[in-house]
Amino acid sequence: MTAEQEKTLVQKAIEATAGAYVPYSGFRVGACVLGEDGEFYTGFNVENSSYGATICGERTAILHMLASGKSRKMRALAIASTMGKDLSCCGICRQFMVEFIESGDMPIYASDMQGNFEKTTYDEIMPKAFASFKATAQG
Ligand code: THU
Repeated sequence: MTAEQEKTLVQKAIEATAGAYVPYSGFRVGACVLGEDGEFYTGFNVENSSYGATICGERTAILHMLASGKSRKMRALAIASTMGKDLSCCGICRQFMVEFIESGDMPIYASDMQGNFEKTTYDEIMPKAFASFKATAQG
């Protein structure tokens, strides 16, 4: 990731917060993934009156990438919210992501609304992730 790519990814995640549908929590989360095709795909959280049906910003961005038909794997992810670096992807998103990461050292940036961010990696937040496709690949 170049410094310019990092800045673009984070900026797009910040801008994506505008689309959030958050009538229940009022908490906007914007996300942006960099696909293996070099394109940026944004997402935001979409809540539901049946709370468990809520979709996080991270998963919306990944679905945006998949729906483009141009990329099946992501190279980086940024999330933005008023929580800044303290926003950490939820457990469902961590598990969801395992199917669509290019590698475990994929960077994850958590930013505030001014673009100040902290960087972690997928493996750091989800060590020993379960992925049944690994078992299948080994027979
Ligand atoms: N949320 C996200 O979109 N991403 C996260 O990483 C954590 C939580 C959303 C879900 C819900 O709409 C709101 O934040 C409050 O939990």
